Amino acid sequence: MKDDIKEILLDEQQLRNKIKEIGKRISSDYLGKDLMLIGVLKGSVPFMADLMKEIEIPCTMDFMAVSSYGNSSKTSGVVRILKDLDFEIENKDILIVEDIIDSGVTLRYLVDYLKGRNPNSIQIASLLNKPDRRMVKIDAKYIGFQVPDHFLVGYGLDFAEKYRNLPYIGILKEEIYK
Ligand code: IMP
Ligand code: MG
Repeated sequence: MKDDIKEILLDEQQLRNKIKEIGKRISSDYLGKDLMLIGVLKGSVPFMADLMKEIEIPCTMDFMAVSSYGNSSKTSGVVRILKDLDFEIENKDILIVEDIIDSGVTLRYLVDYLKGRNPNSIQIASLLNKPDRRMVKIDAKYIGFQVPDHFLVGYGLDFAEKYRNLPYIGILKEEIYK
């Protein structure tokens, strides 16, 4: 698995430090609110697990699973819900937890969809942001790192469902996906 990685972009210590910082900000921003974390399966799982432990105020959590129609290298702009929420979100303060914002299409769709269920507020926490590839406007309140336009794997991010279990974020060698 490690042989397929060209370079480690973000190591375990960098991830840990940044997530601690985001957890602190969330804990103070959402003090006294009815915070609910919504993880986007499956890429957000490691980030969600580490982030929730750094949040020092009461919160609940739920998960959604979504996928884009068509092949995975090209976003069609159509998002399909594979798993919906288990809980109502009316009057709750929703924080969507995502691994990476790329074109922005997935999150744009999710935010609009969840808005229809009348939460009190809705914000985004994304570990990574690839601004170069944005197709739609997305404002994320919490961003871990701005990353260059490379294909990244690890810490939840996959290529063909693999590499999610790497403890760091690495740049995948081009010969693996070309
Ligand atoms: P968006 O709708 O284009 O913003 O898609 C975001 C989704 O694409 C993320 O949740 C990831 O699953 C996937 N994605 C985007 N960039 C990468 C990458 O560099 N490596 C692995 N998955 C990625
Ligand atoms: Mg994803």
